[in-house]
Amino acid sequence: MKIMVINGPNLNFLGIREKDIYGIMTYEDLCNYIKDYCDKNSVNVEIVQSNIEGEIINFIQRAYLEKYDGIVINPGAYTHTSVAILDAIKSINLPVVEVHLSNIYSREEFRHKSVTAPACVGQITGFGTFGYILGILGLKNR
Ligand code: DQA
Repeated sequence: MKIMVINGPNLNFLGIREKDIYGIMTYEDLCNYIKDYCDKNSVNVEIVQSNIEGEIINFIQRAYLEKYDGIVINPGAYTHTSVAILDAIKSINLPVVEVHLSNIYSREEFRHKSVTAPACVGQITGFGTFGYILGILGLKNR
């Protein structure tokens, strides 16, 4: 099974940004944590990150063209605004799981709305970095 994990804006600043919300694990730690899980569970994973909306769309399209089996995506703040990412998810015939480190529903009201989740098979929010593993498990289980 081949999965792409896509991280959006500011996730490369994990361990630096708002540690009280996102924790002390760095982005590199997160990547190693996901890779380690995937190595042990026979999942072929590629992990990518961009702060740029169009690049995230390019990743989504590449996952489709290169025949990945699914995507785990944390679109960061684009979750709440990006019709372009919504359309990109809608245009591919791949299961996509949306993941958030924090519980977006317990935070500011503007985070309560996910523009992108309706195109996803499900959403995992509030379980920290373990949410990525849950997302991969969700894809494996389908
Ligand atoms: C986030 C939640 C978003 O609201 C925020 O803009 C992020 C991170 C999360 O993982 O909890 O950048 O997606």
